Amino acid sequence: MSPSLASLFVALAALLSSTAYGQNATSTYSEPNVPTGVPVEGNYGGPLRPQVHFSPPQGFMNDPNGMFVDADGVYHLYYQYNPTAIVAGNQHWGHATSRDLYTWENQAIAIFPSGPTEGIFSGSAVVDVNNTSGFFPNQTNGVVAIYTLNTPERETQDIAYSIDGGYTFTKYANNPVIDSNSTQFRDPKVLWYPGTERWIMVVSYAQEFAIGIFSSPNLIDWTHESNFTRHGLLGLQYECPNLVEVPVAGSSDYDTLFVLLISINPGGPLGGSISQYFPGTFNGTHFSAIDGAARIANFAKDDYAAQFFSGIPGSSNHISIGWASNWQYTNVLPTDREGFRSVMTGPREHYLKELPKVGLSLVSAPYNATAAVDQELAYNATLGNGTLFVDYGAVESRALYWEANVTGLTDSSSLQGSVNFTFSSSTTGEYVSGGTWVSTGDVWLDRGHSTAWSNPFFTDKFSATGLYDGNGTWRISGIVDRSIIEVYLNGGEHVATSVFFPAEPLDWVTISVKGLNESAQASVGVWALQAAWLDQADVNGTVAGNVTSS
Ligand SMILES: *[C@@H]1O[C@H](CO)[C@@H](O)[C@H](O)[C@H]1NC(C)=O
Ligand SMILES: *[C@@H]1O[C@H](CO)[C@@H](O)[C@H](O)[C@H]1NC(C)=O
Ligand SMILES: *[C@@H]1O[C@H](CO)[C@@H](O)[C@H](O)[C@H]1NC(C)=O
Ligand SMILES: *[C@@H]1O[C@H](CO)[C@@H](O)[C@H](O)[C@H]1NC(C)=O
Ligand SMILES: *[C@@H]1O[C@H](CO)[C@@H](O)[C@H](O)[C@H]1NC(C)=O
Ligand SMILES: *[C@@H]1O[C@H](CO)[C@@H](O)[C@H](O)[C@H]1NC(C)=O
Ligand SMILES: *[C@@H]1O[C@H](CO)[C@@H](O)[C@H](O)[C@H]1NC(C)=O
Ligand SMILES: *[C@@H]1O[C@H](CO)[C@@H](O)[C@H](O)[C@H]1NC(C)=O
Ligand SMILES: *[C@@H]1O[C@H](CO)[C@@H](O)[C@H](O)[C@H]1NC(C)=O
Ligand SMILES: *[C@@H]1O[C@H](CO)[C@@H](O)[C@H](O)[C@H]1NC(C)=O
Ligand SMILES: *[C@@H]1O[C@H](CO)[C@@H](O)[C@H](O)[C@H]1NC(C)=O
Ligand SMILES: *[C@@H]1O[C@H](CO)[C@@H](O)[C@H](O)[C@H]1NC(C)=O
Repeated sequence: MSPSLASLFVALAALLSSTAYGQNATSTYSEPNVPTGVPVEGNYGGPLRPQVHFSPPQGFMNDPNGMFVDADGVYHLYYQYNPTAIVAGNQHWGHATSRDLYTWENQAIAIFPSGPTEGIFSGSAVVDVNNTSGFFPNQTNGVVAIYTLNTPERETQDIAYSIDGGYTFTKYANNPVIDSNSTQFRDPKVLWYPGTERWIMVVSYAQEFAIGIFSSPNLIDWTHESNFTRHGLLGLQYECPNLVEVPVAGSSDYDTLFVLLISINPGGPLGGSISQYFPGTFNGTHFSAIDGAARIANFAKDDYAAQFFSGIPGSSNHISIGWASNWQYTNVLPTDREGFRSVMTGPREHYLKELPKVGLSLVSAPYNATAAVDQELAYNATLGNGTLFVDYGAVESRALYWEANVTGLTDSSSLQGSVNFTFSSSTTGEYVSGGTWVSTGDVWLDRGHSTAWSNPFFTDKFSATGLYDGNGTWRISGIVDRSIIEVYLNGGEHVATSVFFPAEPLDWVTISVKGLNESAQASVGVWALQAAWLDQADVNGTVAGNVTSS
């Protein structure tokens, strides 16, 4: 993250009396009104509050941090969190956990700044199963968080360790572990590289457009190995790098490859924030991109700083979650009237696939959406050139998953027709819509017909072009969740993530198909998703989170 926080820090400093900050103490320093040891409470009942996407109980959230899956299958999501205001600043690590990545339980804030001019900026976490760090003599589930400590003087890479599985952290006594005397050096992401039995860190020299690669035997002593400098789109800063080894589908050359994901902000091609990625090879010290192309991870504007869960073996598809917002407008989004700003993307499963013409592409498929399904609302395996309409006003979550498959395609002459979707408000007529042409491969999304809010940077129409790979099907699917929509073409060969803000809740969906080739058929389904947050609320509508075990 990068906004200037200076004015906030000045305001906060004025609030604070002098306090002794123990660098080594358990991370519980807190300003007035920031709870320690219990989660921040929230009300998730507002009409713009997503029900199967993560959003903070109250206050402001940005980048996902520290994501790991533990040995019990619990996914841990930390996040850049300002618990004292609904704009960026005063960065803490908020924390939530999930078993299915759709139902989240809020946990107590995990890492606090040690004083008024500190910010706990973005970073990652790993389970130090072999106790390489020495922090965990008697356990295999010790967690080390590696994060950027931001102060007015510099950004350093610091670590903190947790002996209780990631709920509370103690800052390492001899921080920082890397100091390059820079104010623009941040967002460390660490992975274990078995080839050299070393921890590997990718970290951004943000304004020099370089990703530094460091190695360490113990997460404490780091050696600079190489830089990956000025590749692809620069924007005005590189942030939040990830290096991850994923399987490659449809290639005779590779079983797996590494992906280096780099977020750029500001200066994304659609304005503001976006992420690009490079498929390539990694040998323990150097990353080499397979080619010179910059590949963009999302064709809309609300997907930044995504992080991959650590703890997933290289032979499995990897899972990421991104921040579904954009620095161009995140601080002024209208959800402040519901007490929060920003949501995360849904969980996405990733692998590389050889696509026609363009070659290697990172597929981003919705991760096991069936885990979030409450009930089927409509299904028609032979819709043909027809229209499916569902009134989902009675669905408590107002969140849906839908799919449309065109099957029976043959050669390129069979690529005809289009599939569209519209989610609308039966009271105001507001809507969000999109679709795909089987004929050209184009896919589009239009969020420009919600009336609750507008902003010059909140551009509204997005598109991309997919490629038919000859296997007989063309698919579009997605999730709509009150104020966020995610669209997946061909199982995630293209993905769009967009927030939108209707004045009244959307409650009608229409999926229509026209002009298919006579060999083709359309199969369409719509499912209601759980109200995963409302289900946790007490009679007053308060979601308290895990008040027992932290
Ligand atoms: C680890 O276990 C040993 C033996 O039970 C004990 O003496 C020691 O205090 C423990 N260390 C920690 C850090 O818990
Ligand atoms: C700080 O923590 C380290 C272990 O991380 C320990 O060796 C040291 O004694 C601690 N220092 C204080 C002052 O608690
Ligand atoms: C650190 O950076 C500052 C500002 O660029 C410079 O004045 C100072 O000499 C640097 N310190 C070291 C130890 O390199
Ligand atoms: C732990 O140690 C085992 C045995 O040496 C090794 O195979 C594995 O890669 C190590 N994993 C980590 C995360 O340290
Ligand atoms: C890596 O990049 C940083 C930032 O540009 C630079 O300070 C450093 O000297 C580079 N290291 C090497 C070995 O090129
Ligand atoms: C890793 O790749 C770099 C750059 O190609 C090369 O200089 C280095 O020798 C390689 N290291 C190993 C262990 O192969
Ligand atoms: C999908 O989620 C359901 C419900 O949580 C679970 O039973 C199932 O095992 C999951 N499937 C996969 C492939 O993870
Ligand atoms: C499916 O759609 C077709 C064409 O629109 C319609 O004729 C048929 O009755 C529908 N089937 C079901 C099960 O709704
Ligand atoms: C065909 O390809 C599409 C998109 O690449 C994919 O979603 C679908 O699962 C594939 N179908 C089969 C039968 O392989
Ligand atoms: C989808 O919308 C486009 C743009 O309005 C239109 O040209 C196309 O005919 C529509 N297709 C369907 C199936 O409604
Ligand atoms: C869909 O309409 C096209 C003409 O636009 C026609 O050729 C095709 O047979 C129709 N498909 C079905 C399943 O009715
Ligand atoms: C669409 O195709 C996918 C992949 O083959 C399949 O899993 C899914 O059930 C299909 N959905 C519908 C609505 O037919």
